[in-house]
Amino acid sequence: MNQNLARVCVVLAGLALRGQDQHGFGPVEPVPIPEMTATRHDGVRVALREVLQGRRSAVQFVFVDCTTACPILGSLFRKVDKSLGQTQGQLVSITVNPERDTAARMAGWLAQFQASERWIGLRLEPADLRRLLQVFKQEAGPPTGHTLQVFLVDDAARYAARTIDMPSAASVAAELRIGMSGGEAPELSTRLGAASGREVYDGRGGVLGTVGADRLDSRASRCSGCHGARAEGGAEGKTVAPALTREALLTVRERRGGPSSAYTERTFCEGLRRGVDPAGVRYSDMMPRYQIDGRTCQSVWQFLTQPTGAK
Ligand code: HEC
Repeated sequence: MNQNLARVCVVLAGLALRGQDQHGFGPVEPVPIPEMTATRHDGVRVALREVLQGRRSAVQFVFVDCTTACPILGSLFRKVDKSLGQTQGQLVSITVNPERDTAARMAGWLAQFQASERWIGLRLEPADLRRLLQVFKQEAGPPTGHTLQVFLVDDAARYAARTIDMPSAASVAAELRIGMSGGEAPELSTRLGAASGREVYDGRGGVLGTVGADRLDSRASRCSGCHGARAEGGAEGKTVAPALTREALLTVRERRGGPSSAYTERTFCEGLRRGVDPAGVRYSDMMPRYQIDGRTCQSVWQFLTQPTGAK
């Protein structure tokens, strides 16, 4: 195995394990996947757009000789593969080392993970690979620099969303279930939102906060660090971070000396962004400010207020 490839893989895996994320995650303005042909792991030449049309796909980038990050990406898809219903979604692993990875090598790689029929491996011509990476806003560099994010392509073959680096299997599976059988039930969509909201809450969602002019890192930004792993609230010295349970948020009561109020999704998100509660009283500066988009904030709200609680 190429020594250099191996070394950078180790670095990549380290990055992923530290849970860093500079790229954000969530939905993007849909971008059509360009026309190009690819070689599937069974050796058949296919039109990429045709392969992607008709169901949602999760796309990851790997290469066969990568022994650290890619096996983790492989087991991630394996978990997703096992957790989905038969007709739900498609998993696509694209090699970033087309010089070396033949269809047969990709087939061997998939076999390690007992890939079902929904999971395909693809090899693109190097120029096409670069074009596709551009769509996902990824630099085309040496194979070892490849991204650890997963990219969601909708059933009209448009790039529609991306995840954090090394996302959880649950969040990828959730994305693939969206829109199945003519639109998701509201209850299901709430569950999906809650699953990614939990990642943000735990600091795995790439949402960073600020205190005054200081930008916090992902560790200091995570809600769980101050509000507790189960949103039960926490105290450090005189600073009390209140409970963020369903009950605490939805009950009308006095908060920090103001008139009684309860949170809605809107006031909750305003609070994160602007630092005021529903009664218009400012939070202390111990509560960071967050630049958080609507959908991401909604998912945190759904996670905290889901009837089963933040468990
Ligand atoms: C560095 C510690 C810290 C972090 C990280 C943090 N908070 Fe807070 N939060 C606080 C403190 C302290 C307060 C109390 C502020 C006050 O009462 O003035 C607070 C208050 C709140 C409130 C007001 C609750 C109420 O009953 O009025 C909400 C909502 C909230 N935080 C949500 C979050 C969310 C969501 C995150 C993660 C995105 C988060 N916080 C991250 C410390 C933190």
